[in-house]
Amino acid sequence: MNMQLTSPLTQKNSSKQHRVINFYPGPGALPLPVLERVHAELFNFNGTGMSVMEISHRSPEIQSIIDDSAERIKRLMELGEQFEVIFLQGGGSLQFLMVPMNFSGSGDQIDYIDTGYWAEKAIRGAQSLDRDLEIIASSADRDHSYVPDLNKISLRPEAKYLHLCSNNTVVGTQFNQFPNLPIPIIADMSSDFMSKVIDPTNLSCIYAHAQKNVGLSGVTVVLIRKEMLAKISENIPEFLDYRTHIKRKSNYHTPPCFSIYITWHILRWIEEDIGGLKQLGKINQEKADLLYQCIDSNPLFDCAVEKASRSQMNVVFTLPTQELEKQFIQEAFEAGIVGVEGHRTRGGCRVSLYNGVTLKAVEALVEFIGKFAKKPRGTTSES
Ligand SMILES: Cc1ncc(COP(=O)(O)O)c(C=O)c1O
Repeated sequence: MNMQLTSPLTQKNSSKQHRVINFYPGPGALPLPVLERVHAELFNFNGTGMSVMEISHRSPEIQSIIDDSAERIKRLMELGEQFEVIFLQGGGSLQFLMVPMNFSGSGDQIDYIDTGYWAEKAIRGAQSLDRDLEIIASSADRDHSYVPDLNKISLRPEAKYLHLCSNNTVVGTQFNQFPNLPIPIIADMSSDFMSKVIDPTNLSCIYAHAQKNVGLSGVTVVLIRKEMLAKISENIPEFLDYRTHIKRKSNYHTPPCFSIYITWHILRWIEEDIGGLKQLGKINQEKADLLYQCIDSNPLFDCAVEKASRSQMNVVFTLPTQELEKQFIQEAFEAGIVGVEGHRTRGGCRVSLYNGVTLKAVEALVEFIGKFAKKPRGTTSES
């Protein structure tokens, strides 16, 4: 936000009562109960007399947090024993390289789907290696306003895998089903990981940075179907080999302990407060339905994303002029609503509805949108 008149670091009100309504695209809103629990144990975690930030990564406490987090992910996603779950650093971006390095070798065919900004970055990452990469489907023909139908794509039978981005954070589209395909599917789920129930049957590897739905930046969760491990290329650097981190239980080198600890708290919140992914998915659906319905029924706002492809997590929309969009963002900010500007490459507006965003927050936004639309605006450049 560049609307503050003073430096963002100038001391201001830090009280809990003055929290804003946060729709940032990630890092973004965290569940308040999680913040409260972290606050309560900040000086003394679980009787250790230390904060989690001060405990050695080799201690039983940190290893237990890592192990319990992996178990909770398996349980919540009903993965059974078919997947390994590891916690890495380097963000979603490092996975753009680790995926092709681990699951293909020099000259191998790898198939990718281009659904816009992050899918393209994954493609560029893999293209920097000596692979035979083909973009087998793309939504570029309609400005990435939809996702290709996975039942209609032509894969190369020899390709080692298909890579796709399940939720497209920048353009606001989402794949909802993953059919049985003849080659392994690898999904970047950075912006919809653990936001609802998914069927993992046809997925071979899932990766997601934590800072949208399950925590803070600094940790990336990677789920790897065990049978994929046998396919990992030899001769990749030890640090970049998934097997290294599986063998060492995500503690091969100093892990991002505090970030994993927050993920652990969020997983506990999903499991114990919310009641699991089915429940959470319902809440997320309700939030998205409410906002799309508001946008679609209001002529001042336009969501160009095709209905069947709309993201439950990132709602993108435009107003008739850039001037009005600026006003909308500014007035939202003044009303205590932050993070509604679109991605810098696209402009417009974007509202992110990750797990930490409450239904109440969306209701407040919808009310604000209604008031904004009714407000007389005098002569603006569109009149
Ligand atoms: C879908 C998706 N993949 C990957 C990334 C890149 O992640 P990171 O910034 O953690 O490298 C992002 C960033 O927002 C994203 O939205």
